[in-house]
Amino acid sequence: MKDWFKKSVVYQIYPKSFNDSNNDGIGDIKGIIEKLDYIKNLGIEVIWLTPIYVSPQKDNGYDIADYYNIDPIFGTMEDFEDLLNKVHERGMKLIMDMVVNHTSTEHKWFKEALKGEDNPYHDFYIWKKSNKVPNNWQSKFGGSAWEYVESLDKYYLHLFDVTQADLNWENPKLREEVYKMMCFWMDKGVDGFRLDVVNLISKDQSFKDDTLESPNHDGRRFYTDGPRIHEYLHEMNKNVFSKYEGSMTVGEMSSTTINHCINYTKPEREELSMTFNFHHLKVDYPNGEKWSLAPFDFIQLKNILFTWQVGMQEGNGWNATFWSNHDQPRALSRFGDDKNYPKESAKMLATTIHLMRGTPYVYQGEEIGMTNPYFETIDKYKDVESINAYNNLLKKGYLEKEVLEILKSKSRDNSRTPIQWDENGGFSEGKSWIDMADNYKYINAKKCLEEENSIYEYYGKLAKLRKEYDIISHGDIEPILEEDENILAYIRKYKENELLVVCNFFGKEVNLNIDDKFKKGKILISNYDMNGVSNILKPYECFAVLV
Ligand code: NOJ
Repeated sequence: MKDWFKKSVVYQIYPKSFNDSNNDGIGDIKGIIEKLDYIKNLGIEVIWLTPIYVSPQKDNGYDIADYYNIDPIFGTMEDFEDLLNKVHERGMKLIMDMVVNHTSTEHKWFKEALKGEDNPYHDFYIWKKSNKVPNNWQSKFGGSAWEYVESLDKYYLHLFDVTQADLNWENPKLREEVYKMMCFWMDKGVDGFRLDVVNLISKDQSFKDDTLESPNHDGRRFYTDGPRIHEYLHEMNKNVFSKYEGSMTVGEMSSTTINHCINYTKPEREELSMTFNFHHLKVDYPNGEKWSLAPFDFIQLKNILFTWQVGMQEGNGWNATFWSNHDQPRALSRFGDDKNYPKESAKMLATTIHLMRGTPYVYQGEEIGMTNPYFETIDKYKDVESINAYNNLLKKGYLEKEVLEILKSKSRDNSRTPIQWDENGGFSEGKSWIDMADNYKYINAKKCLEEENSIYEYYGKLAKLRKEYDIISHGDIEPILEEDENILAYIRKYKENELLVVCNFFGKEVNLNIDDKFKKGKILISNYDMNGVSNILKPYECFAVLV
C-alpha cells in the first residue's frame, strides 16, 4: 500500500534529550534502543530522529559536517544499525532528518570551497562578489544572511546561523552528491526522510533586495517555494525515493502556501509524501512578531487549521498534523492549561490533531504531558536562536525580566528539556546538557504508565482508532461551528458514516449545539467519562462520536 502512512502515527525523537545511556548528560542511540518498547506500546509506527550526523552542534545537529557518519556524542554507526534493526524487528519504521538547504561550515565541501574559485567545491555554496553586503536578506536567527570571507573577498549566504552555509542547488554536481548520500542511508535500510526547510533550497537567482512594502521584507519571498523547487523535489524523488518502495518523506515547509503543498504532496506529482506547515503556530505572534507575548487567537487558529484541512483535501494533498516539535514550545503550556487541567487539555489537543485528515506527529514527552520548564535565568538557555533573541531584545531596550518572560513562553528550549522518565528524572545520572523541568517529580513517564486513564494510554487509543477506522485515515473533513468562540469541531465523512469530533479549547463549561443524530452515535473516545452526548461541554472536554 503506497499510502500506508495515512494509518500511522509518527513519533519524533530529539536524541540529545531523549535518554542518556552512558551518563555523559547527552541522550544517545543506545538510550533510544532502551525505550523502543515504550514507543511501540504507544501505537507508533514511524520514528523520526532529528539529526545525529557528525556536527559541531552549533544548531544542535542541523549544522552537518559529515553526512556519512554518526556524531560520537550519539554513538557509532554500529549503534545506529542496531537501532534500525531493533526498530524493524518491532514492526516500526525509522526516518532520518536530512538537512540539505545548508551544511556546517565545518563540512569538507565548505573547507574546500574556501580554497578558491577554482576548487570544484566552490560552487557548492552561494557566493557573491560585492563591495558591500550583497542584499538585505535576513538570517532567520537574526542579522544579515551574508558573511564576508576576506581571503576570497566574497560573501556567502546563510539563511540560518553564520556556521550554516546555504548550498547551491543550481549546481547539478551538488544535487548529484546529495542524492548519492541520501541513497547511502536508504540502502542502509532507513524508511525515508524528514527534509529540513526543504522549500528554501531554490533561490531566485536575481538576489534582489527585498522592499519594505513586502510583508516580511527579509528576503524570504525570493527563496521560499522558489522558482525551481518543484523541479528539484521531483528530481530527488526520481533519483532517491522512487527507488525504494514504500519510503516516506515529509518536507518541513517554511512560510509556504496551500497550493505549493498540494503540489509537493499530491501523488501524481511524485515529489513528497506529506508536508509540515507552521501557519497555525503563529496565532500567538502579535503582528507576526515571535518575540512578543500574546494569548493565542482561537478563531484565527481554527481558520488556519481548517483552511489547510479543506484546501489540502480539495487538491488531494496530504498534511502532517502536529502541535509541537523541537522548535516550538510545549503545546500543553501554549494551547492548553498545564496547571489546572493538564490531563484534560493534553488529551483534547491530541484529539484535535489526531482525528483530522493527515498523518499525526507526536513530539517526545507530549504523551506524558510534559510542560515548558519556565526557566528563570538566561544561563539555562542553550539555543542559538533564543540567545540571539535575548541579546537583540536587550539592545532594543527591553528589561531583562521582560525578555525572560518572553523566552519562557517562546524559546525553542522549552521543548528541548530532557524527557522525564521517573521521579528522579531518569534521563541521565550525569548532569544533563540542559536542565530538566523541575516538575519531573510528579510529571514523568513511570507515573503516567501506572495511572489509569493516562495521557499515554489516550494517545495509544488514538493510534489504534486510526488503524481501525478508515473514516479517520481516509475520510473527508468538514468544519462545523466555525464561529463558535470556544469549540473546535469537525465532521469526518467516509462512505455512509460520519464522525463528529468536538473539542472545548477553554477551562470553562460551554454550550454545545449539534445535530440530534449524533446523540445516538457510538462514542469512540472522550477525555471525561460520558453517558451519551450532552448539550454542555466540561472544561477542555473533547469526544468523537460515530454514526
Ligand atoms: C528547522 C529545524 O527544525 C531547526 O531546528 C533548525 O534550526 C533550522 N531548520 C535550520 O536547519
